[in-house]
Amino acid sequence: MLRFDFSFMFEPNVKGGITEEEFSQIQPTMTRFVEEISREKPAFVKVLFDRNLMDAVEDLREWILNFDNFVVIGIGGSSLGAAALANALKPFDWNYLSKSERGGYLRIFFLENVDPDYTASVLDRIDPRYTIFNVVSKSGSTAECLAHYQIIRGLLEVRGLNPSEHIVFTTDPKKGLLRRIAEREKIVALDIPPELGGRFSVLSPVGLLPAMAIGVDIKALIDGAKDAYAKCVALDVWKNPAAMMAACHYLHKLKGRRISVMMPYSNRLYTLADWFRQLWAESLGKKYSLNGEEVYEGLTPIKALGVVDQHSQVQLYNEGPDDKTVTFVEVENFDRDILIPSIHDDEEISYLGGKRLSNLLRNELFGTERSLAFNNRPSMRVIFPSIDAYELGQFFMYYEFTTALMGKLLNINPYDQPGVELGKQITYSLMERKGFEKMAFPEPSKRVV
Ligand code: PA5
Repeated sequence: MLRFDFSFMFEPNVKGGITEEEFSQIQPTMTRFVEEISREKPAFVKVLFDRNLMDAVEDLREWILNFDNFVVIGIGGSSLGAAALANALKPFDWNYLSKSERGGYLRIFFLENVDPDYTASVLDRIDPRYTIFNVVSKSGSTAECLAHYQIIRGLLEVRGLNPSEHIVFTTDPKKGLLRRIAEREKIVALDIPPELGGRFSVLSPVGLLPAMAIGVDIKALIDGAKDAYAKCVALDVWKNPAAMMAACHYLHKLKGRRISVMMPYSNRLYTLADWFRQLWAESLGKKYSLNGEEVYEGLTPIKALGVVDQHSQVQLYNEGPDDKTVTFVEVENFDRDILIPSIHDDEEISYLGGKRLSNLLRNELFGTERSLAFNNRPSMRVIFPSIDAYELGQFFMYYEFTTALMGKLLNINPYDQPGVELGKQITYSLMERKGFEKMAFPEPSKRVV
């Protein structure tokens, strides 16, 4: 199981950290919110227990494994979870391995950003004859996704390939353009439960289908999430990692620490920080009115990579404004390790010889953690015993549950994203979509140098 070390969130390890008194005051509130969420069973919990969702993915296994390439077409919550899974669970050279070296599973590509250089280079790499395109959009109306969908569809048609043999949609079960096209043209379509928001959807077909295509054990993923959920509903806050995480971040926010850095000491887990960044930014950054005043809520999530960002960000974290908490992500056992040979006797280098790279990496983490504590900067640690599907399933669930708790603490709705929708609508208007003319904004007065 994942473990969580909160030692450096608290006094006396960190001066200005959370005191016993502050923590005992918030405990009844946390217990109440945990009870509320376990009663409400939000959509991200329900998906774990909906066997049909996993079965629908499994039903496609045989067909999908005939292909060589799997291309996810989606953006934000429709792709970040799958990207985090692929980066964590497959080697960096996965797409360069032969199919037999990949155990019969598919290469994976992501058409997320509509950067023409990037999209063109992905399309250069894949032969549409051997490619399955998974178009993922809950709303079925996101411009980036629909642009890419039309591009790949054009490509299939030019090559004389039948689109319904190369495309799977993952979308709302009833509504939206993709569902209509699927019904009209008999394109296979998986369901995203209607109440499930994109950034909470990694454990639904949105994440499960790409994961299955690259050979991730999706049952272990869900089992991990279920086991984590059992801990998330524990009423004793000290035994509930989600409640602890939410309470600690909330109490530090009250002390002015409104930035939350996630810093994995693992390249494989770095994309998890992207997933987390979206989860907290889109879920918690909200405005609302209170007694006629606008209130702007949220914690700013930042990602950093250990040890690389020790040589970039950590100076700021140690001596810059005291406005952050840092969450280190530690890996106890790496799949592979490398012994550093003893080459020179000079004292500046000889201490490294005979040690493992993982040993250096983890001691760098502990060194940074302690340097922060020395400067009275709070941090916590998420500990992965190893990197596998079961542990990742837990990570997703702990963070989704923590986000739901944060929503209650901050008194906002973590499941909507009006700020994102507004940008989408203005884009529709600028791209001359019918019905969105009114969104056009007057040209700003120019200050271009
Ligand atoms: O979390 C969210 O709701 C968003 O990030 C969406 O996933 C993203 O905007 C893509 O939306 P859609 O899946 O409707 O294309």
